Formats: sequence, C-alpha cells, structure tokens
Amino acid sequence: MSVSLTRYLVEQQRSKGHIPSELRLLLEVVARACKGISHAVNKGALGGVLGSAGSANVQGEVQKKLDIIANDVLIEANEWGGHLAAMASEEMDTIHAVPNRYPQGEYLLLFDPLDGSSNIDVNVSIGTIFSVLKKADASTMVRESDFLQAGTRQVAAGYCVYGPQTTLVLTVGDGVAMFTLDREQGSFVLTQEDVKIPEDTQEFAINMSNMRHWAAPVRRYVDECLQGKEGPRGKDFNMRWVASMVADVHRILTRGGIFLYPWDKREPGKAGKLRLMYEANPMSWLIEQAGGAASNGSARILDLEPAQLHQRVSVILGSRHEVERVVRYHQETAPAA
Ligand code: AHG
Ligand code: MN
Ligand code: MN
Repeated sequence: MSVSLTRYLVEQQRSKGHIPSELRLLLEVVARACKGISHAVNKGALGGVLGSAGSANVQGEVQKKLDIIANDVLIEANEWGGHLAAMASEEMDTIHAVPNRYPQGEYLLLFDPLDGSSNIDVNVSIGTIFSVLKKADASTMVRESDFLQAGTRQVAAGYCVYGPQTTLVLTVGDGVAMFTLDREQGSFVLTQEDVKIPEDTQEFAINMSNMRHWAAPVRRYVDECLQGKEGPRGKDFNMRWVASMVADVHRILTRGGIFLYPWDKREPGKAGKLRLMYEANPMSWLIEQAGGAASNGSARILDLEPAQLHQRVSVILGSRHEVERVVRYHQETAPAA
C-alpha cells in the first residue's frame, strides 16, 4: 500500500508527536509549491521559463527567470495559510512578513527557491531547498533577527529535486524520508524511509577548477583521493560534480559520498560560496539525520550562530568518516597557519 506525504505527516503527528498540525500544514503547502515549480521546470522552453531575468540578487548573482518564478510560487503558496510569520529567501534582499490581511503564525520559512541555476537552461537536475524555524517570541512583530538561529533549532528541513523524477526529501528530526511525485495522482508518495548514508565512500564532489585557490587541508584531501590505489588512501576514488547542490546531496543520501564547497583564497573575506541559512543548514541537518556529518572545517555547521541572514559558509558534508578526515586535516594544519 502506498503512503502519501499527507499520510506520512499525519502519522508523524499522531503516533510520534513530532509535528504540530500547523507545521504539518506548512510542509504540505511547501510540497504543493514544489509541485507547481516542478510543473514549470518540466515545461522548459515551451513555458517560456528559460533564460535570464536580467536582474541581480543581493549576492550580486544574475537571476534566472526560474529563480524568480520559483520564489513567487513559494511566497504565494505560503502567505495566506496562517502558519507563518515570515519568509526569507536567497532571492530577496529582506524578509517577507506575512501581509496584515492574513493571520500570522509562529513559523519562519527560509528557502533557496531554485538551486543549481546554471543548470536550468541545459536541462540538468535543479531543486528547491527549505528550512523551517520557529519564532522565539510569538508576541512580537517579526524581524530579521528572529531568523538568526543556529541550524540545530530547525524544526523541519528538506529539498525537492527536479530531475528525471521529482523527489521530495524531508526531515522533521525523525530520520530522513523520500517521496516521489506521482504525476498521475498529483501526490508525493513515500518511496524510502530511514535513509542512511554509508560511513565510507570512494566518491567525492568538488569544483576542481578552483583547486589552485583552495586552502592546504582541502588540497591535501583531494590530492590523496586523486592518487588512488598508489597513494596513501590505497583505493581509487571517483568524482562527480553536478553543480546543483540538491543533486549532489541527493546522490550522497542515496549512495554515499562527500561534497565540498570550501573557502578559497580568491575572496578571503568570504566564508565560501554557499549560504548558511538557505543551503548549508537544511542540507546539514538532512545529512546528519541520515548518519552523515557536516562541517565547515573547524565546527559543526548546525552549531554556527548566524550573524546575517545571507551569510556564506564553507561546506564539507557527507559520509561520516570522510568528513572527519577532512576536519582532521584542518586541525593538523591549523598551528602552522
Ligand atoms: P544557486 O543556483 O542557488 O545560486 O546555487 C548554486 C550553488 C550550488 O547549487 C552548487 O553546488 C554550486 O553553486 C555550483 O557552483 P559552481 O558554479 O562552482 O559549480
Ligand atoms: Mn543554491
Ligand atoms: Mn538559488
């Protein structure tokens, strides 16, 4: 018998007491929005959704039409339900409070509406990443500072990958579950529960074109992987780099591996490329819930106290033993640096 996302969430609420009904509604609404985005993605050129929008976001990145479409779909879907106080997005400079005409709830939703923008026009997997926090004080007006909570405070996190299949991956703190979109039924169906990442791996994901800019510990790690059987690791490694974090993380949740988007010396003042609140925190929680690890090289990502909504972070996540090794290499070179 197939289990729908709705049923999964009701069971999480009923028997396990993991989620209040407001959060259940929120997750259903996010899933519905993802269905809408999936539909737009599938239409591609026929729907006029490819190409650049001609604008830039707060990070100075050129926005694609789908970045904006996905952002709008998520906002419209989530505004009126009464479950949210506000939303924050990689594609919006400031937070979007729920308008006065709707009731305000206590949850905060953060998202990267369209991850992997460079892959949209070339028909390669892209996705939506989301994170849910709770407003600490329900009685005050919502402010940006309400969002500045460590990843450990997330109450739900997930992503939807738009690839050969549309797959929604979710955690509410009780392991990781995967749902596949059944297009005939129009619903997400549970296709894997209790996802576990193997502790060891022979597959790494990193943008190798930045190698000359990396810090010594990252170079050492990748260099040893490249030496294969003949090197200190004594085994061959394979490399994969989709350039959509959703797709790379989905592969790791499915068969293991390690993903790195490290700090590099081109812009030493910038912690990395990926964003803590929209990308690193939700993905790190999913990875940890599946038995993996996530670090910035010196600290657990989920423990980082954010100072800014759009802040960046260095990301190393995936199979536990490999992530621990990279962290160890950072510790070993720390005194010299
Ligand atoms: P976004 O499309 O939301 O800006 O994120 C893109 C990110 C991430 O998905 C991916 O891992 C990385 O950027 C790809 O970067 P490269 O261009 O260095 O491959
Ligand atoms: Mn992204
Ligand atoms: Mn994005």
